[in-house]
Amino acid sequence: MDTKFFSEKFFEKYGNRNNNPVLFFSPGRVNLIGEHTDYNGGYVFPCALNYGTYLLIRKINDNFLRFSSVNFSNDEETELQQNIARKAGNWSNYPLGVINEFLKKGIKLSGLELLFYGDVPNGAGLSSSASIEMVTAVAINDIFSAGLERLELVKMSQRAENEFVGMNCGIMDQFSVGFGRKDNAIFLNCNTLDYENVPVNLNDCIFIITNTNKRRGLTDSKYNERRAECEKAVGLLQAYRSINNLSELSTDEIPVLEKYITDNIILRRAKHVISENGRVLEAVKALKENNLERFGELMNSSHDSLKNDYEVTGTELDTLVYEGRKLPGVIGTRMTGAGFGGCTVSIVKKDSSGEFMTRLAESYYKKTGLVPDFYLPEIGNGAGKIDPIVSP
Ligand code: GLA
Repeated sequence: MDTKFFSEKFFEKYGNRNNNPVLFFSPGRVNLIGEHTDYNGGYVFPCALNYGTYLLIRKINDNFLRFSSVNFSNDEETELQQNIARKAGNWSNYPLGVINEFLKKGIKLSGLELLFYGDVPNGAGLSSSASIEMVTAVAINDIFSAGLERLELVKMSQRAENEFVGMNCGIMDQFSVGFGRKDNAIFLNCNTLDYENVPVNLNDCIFIITNTNKRRGLTDSKYNERRAECEKAVGLLQAYRSINNLSELSTDEIPVLEKYITDNIILRRAKHVISENGRVLEAVKALKENNLERFGELMNSSHDSLKNDYEVTGTELDTLVYEGRKLPGVIGTRMTGAGFGGCTVSIVKKDSSGEFMTRLAESYYKKTGLVPDFYLPEIGNGAGKIDPIVSP
């Protein structure tokens, strides 16, 4: 990140070099395993990336909120008032929704100028949205000395996304970009919000994230459809035993499901969630025991279950995964995030990584006509303040 270039952009945009902005960063995240379990009260195992969103922010004397981004051409201005309205289809809804959460708590704010820059691809399943939300939450909390706990900022960011932006996501993304720890993955119980940092030691392997570069068209509606299907399963299973969410069932109980759920689609959705929870538990154990082979196998079966039972993959993700598995040095590979496009995450032997990217790009292009992007991420820390910026 070239902070000089970024702060120069800020002053070009907003002027007044006598009032320095403050710099914050929030990562994106990659989920290693535990997909579509968070809103079912289950386990997830994500980690924060060293890619994410940078924010330069400063207080001003007039009563306006000004948003600009190096990534988007449209700037936005909104009057600071108690009930801020959502702007149809606009990227500034993410920070606005978060600011709205502070106002709802009665925290007094002033006008603000904000400049964002993101180096995590948008809409690719790497939590660019949660990253924008959390960088805003952490920044506002800091510059107005609001004193809110990190977990509260995470929940406010999730609420901003659910209620202001209108995407009914679970808590995994905001939690992982808020609580990430360098070189660790977060083993999170989404029901209790208890979590544990688990060191990730890949020995002679690396993570490779591959972007399908397929726009995720129907993600939100399909996502909500899956949520509704899981709720239906919970309803039907009350005849078996009283549960609040699917994650209260263990993998041993999977055989009894079909007695209570006769609709094959609902049955498969429930099977995915329960089996995926089991896989997270096993994967965390495997990683702690340094058994990367087993971890990779579990990543593979997670993808198979997301494809066959949860049906959230699609041609592009499946092509990357099943073509990828044929290549030498691949320990495990699966889709990550909501699905329907976006990215895969793979664990690949360092020595084979060049061949993996070249050959996968070839076969993927042949089958889909699309060119994938590859990222070789490190596991980074959660959202926070970076050094103070001085005007150049
Ligand atoms: C999206 C949502 C998360 C989670 C994943 C699927 O990333 O924002 O809350 O549900 O999909 O695991």
